[in-house]
Amino acid sequence: IPVAPFVLTVFGATGDLARRKLLPALFQRDFAGQLPAEAVMIGVARRAMTQDAFRALARAAIIEHVPAADGAGPDLDRFLARLHYAAVDAEGEDGWSDLSSKVAAFADRIPVHYLATAPQLFGPICEKLGRFGLSGNDARVVIEKPIGRDLASAIQVNQAIGKVFPEERVYRIDHYLGKETVQNLMALRFANALFEPLWNSAHIDHVQITVAESLGVEGRAGYYDTAGTLRDMVQNHLLQLLCLVAMEPPPSLEADAVRDEKLKVLRALKPIDRHNAAGATVRGQYRAGASAGGAVPGYLDELGSPQSRTETFVAVKAELANWRWAGVPFYLRTGKRLAARVSEIVIGFRPVPHSAFSETAGPILPNQLVIRLQPDEGVKLWLMIKDPGPGGIRLSHVPLDMTFAEAFKVRNPDAYERLILDVVRGDQTLFMRRDEVEAAWRWIDPVLEAWRNMDEPPRPYTAGTWGPSAAIALIERDGRTWQEDG
Ligand code: BG6
Repeated sequence: IPVAPFVLTVFGATGDLARRKLLPALFQRDFAGQLPAEAVMIGVARRAMTQDAFRALARAAIIEHVPAADGAGPDLDRFLARLHYAAVDAEGEDGWSDLSSKVAAFADRIPVHYLATAPQLFGPICEKLGRFGLSGNDARVVIEKPIGRDLASAIQVNQAIGKVFPEERVYRIDHYLGKETVQNLMALRFANALFEPLWNSAHIDHVQITVAESLGVEGRAGYYDTAGTLRDMVQNHLLQLLCLVAMEPPPSLEADAVRDEKLKVLRALKPIDRHNAAGATVRGQYRAGASAGGAVPGYLDELGSPQSRTETFVAVKAELANWRWAGVPFYLRTGKRLAARVSEIVIGFRPVPHSAFSETAGPILPNQLVIRLQPDEGVKLWLMIKDPGPGGIRLSHVPLDMTFAEAFKVRNPDAYERLILDVVRGDQTLFMRRDEVEAAWRWIDPVLEAWRNMDEPPRPYTAGTWGPSAAIALIERDGRTWQEDG
């Protein structure tokens, strides 16, 4: 679907996110023929730089991060010709008038401001966008997490943005919502008659959501140490996944219809606080170990400080107080330097009520629906079948397997390719509304407070394993096990 002509300013255009994700995503869409001829981008950063120097930086970023890009080819040249540059001091006054006239030169296009900057700049940048005449003409603003570090600071950030941009023009990115397989979760649930009748506590025993990374903090220890896994991953990505699994079917995929349903899930989360945090959560921190075949240092060594109690792993047993999910635990876990990079959602169904088979048939294992988000995206439905052969009946647990790479022989676009164009289209369905972000913090805050009051450090785990043994105990106490590989 083509999009309308736009002028996109990218604040933080020389930074990591712009180089790794935004510029490559824009290039890919251009390469696919989806950007109108009039679409332009203005890189914005503090340092003085010529337009040519910025184009050279963008060229290098795209060659590094887009596998098929031909650095010298006409496609890349055509894309680079769309790029401009403006040096602006986000906190001071320098450069803003110049930026304003650059954008005004494209007054016939939809303005989009992407703040790929440190979060403390969101408020000041929005204030200047307003003051320098950059917030009119249906302009949209895009921000990245972290939006605050607790409820109070998130409200402050949202208020500062809200003074300049009305909510229907604020796009809060959670890039997990842009992943193909995450959107597919909605298709699976709401475009198939098969699952919905079973999608409740009468038939589902529990849900597991795992987002495991094999990488460590990768040079981001400074930021990471002020955040930790609960803020970095659970407050946003994991809770959003939980919402998509648990929400009621929305009447349409219109943005607010979906977001209203997600909000109800967040509000139904049972509180975890100082009374129950010790039993319902596990914090971990990685020690030296081995990952991807090589020895890797521990978190404290990477940070260069032996004191930190910041968690690099979290497991949580979350529960929802509503009719559909009463008594169904949602086990969430995520961490750095785990045994593999794998994100998946496991829907564990209840066992059959009665077995008609003799003992020699073997055990009847419960059905499982495994939605693999990455890598090897796909869906597996584990079923019991009879082993082939003329003897008596022996049962086996086998997956009905749909691996997307085999089913659809197309490249899986990066989340940002979809999300940036959705902003231009004015479609907020895959973005978080203000009340969602705040509801998520309202649930997270008491967990953080409970941890602060617990006089114990996070539990150590060896890099390259599945996290601290307490995380295994968290689920095994309930007679269940983590599904290690769908
Ligand atoms: C980011 C976190 O939001 O998500 C990172 O800040 C994390 O710490 C990343 O590594 C994971 O994203 P993906 O798309 O690689 O699963």
